[in-house]
Amino acid sequence: MSDVKSSRIEGLHKMTPDARLQAVARQAGLDRDAVDSLAAAAGGQIDLADRLVENAIASMAIPLGVATNMIVDGREVLVPMATEESSVIAAVCNSAKRCRSTGGFRTSTSGPVMAAQIQLLGASDPENVRLKVLERFDAIKAVCDETDPLLLKVGGGFRDLDVRVVDSAEGPMTIVHIIVDTRDAMGANAVNSMAEALAPRLEQWTGARSLLRILTNLADRRVARVRAVWPVEEIGGAQVRDNMLSAYHFADADPYRAATHNKGIMNGVSAVVLATGNDTRAIEAGAHAYAARDGWYRSMSRWEADADGNLVGILEMPMAVGLVGGATKIHPTAQANLKILGVRTADELARIIVSVGLAQNFGALRALATTGIQKGHMALHAQNVALMVGAVGDEIDRVADELKALGKVRQDIAEEILARLRAGT
Ligand code: MEV
Repeated sequence: MSDVKSSRIEGLHKMTPDARLQAVARQAGLDRDAVDSLAAAAGGQIDLADRLVENAIASMAIPLGVATNMIVDGREVLVPMATEESSVIAAVCNSAKRCRSTGGFRTSTSGPVMAAQIQLLGASDPENVRLKVLERFDAIKAVCDETDPLLLKVGGGFRDLDVRVVDSAEGPMTIVHIIVDTRDAMGANAVNSMAEALAPRLEQWTGARSLLRILTNLADRRVARVRAVWPVEEIGGAQVRDNMLSAYHFADADPYRAATHNKGIMNGVSAVVLATGNDTRAIEAGAHAYAARDGWYRSMSRWEADADGNLVGILEMPMAVGLVGGATKIHPTAQANLKILGVRTADELARIIVSVGLAQNFGALRALATTGIQKGHMALHAQNVALMVGAVGDEIDRVADELKALGKVRQDIAEEILARLRAGT
């Protein structure tokens, strides 16, 4: 346990990453092993880490695997996924394989459109303010487009205006949404700059006071949709299909189950978002808010049986990912992953991500509706437990195999097995 005397470290941000690591190690009383593993964790990318965040001392490596068997809109794709969770990638491979005979995943999108909000306060007539803003459509478009000429050049720019009067604990406030086509950018910088440029003009035009000027992660104008059909014989028969449908109906009706069901979808989604250097928190916030858009939190996916008795899965969710800007552009691993994916636009990336989310959900529902998830998890979990107790080299498989054979994947038992192996008994 670290025993930090003080959380003040004078000038930490001005130090080199290595000096920072030493300073943190001194303050936290780290032993040599901890310092060495942090230094090794930088993995030759410490300069990059230093550019991306403040006070960088290392990088946190997450395993990167590749999902196979995916066909998205008729194209075969290999999907890099960054995740620390066992079974996530295996589940996608397996689920994608089972819908290859029906053509895999078919997608559509609503276009790369983001929105930013400007909060207008202090008016006794918020409805009047709302109309005053709507009357300035052309002027608002001009202010926004002038802010980002580069975006205009690549075919993006201001598209629409939405103005709402929102009731709050301190009374009604007028909320302006600027709606912007951000092309291959995630768009946070573009829409935030526009919102900041526009706010003083809105004050002049309306007499109200502007306060917050920030994008909304509830990117409900930037949704990606996917559907896929799993033949009933690929699922394991009509009973398994019906059990999967009952599992889905449970999630759609009960927020306690929906949270876990949707977490499974995000296991797939966030792993690709992270592998491509995109903002996992933005996608997660948007996804969960969208799942609650009817006023209660429900399943992000929909499941049905078609006329032939096959299982149809559908997923529709906000997918604000970009290819330009942010970590995506400067992180060499993200760039390499985009090459594996073979995507040329953010729109293509969004389509693949929702497909992976649906595949993940199919895998989880099928496992839960049949043997449960522990059986599938056991093999990889046994390896993790073997690693946890310090097994190295071929000890890992030997400890894991014994744990599986015993049917008890427990740390205390793994310790006993390892001690026995090392004692040669
Ligand atoms: C585990 O990370 C994800 C699942 O819990 C998803 C689900 O319950 O649908 C298996």
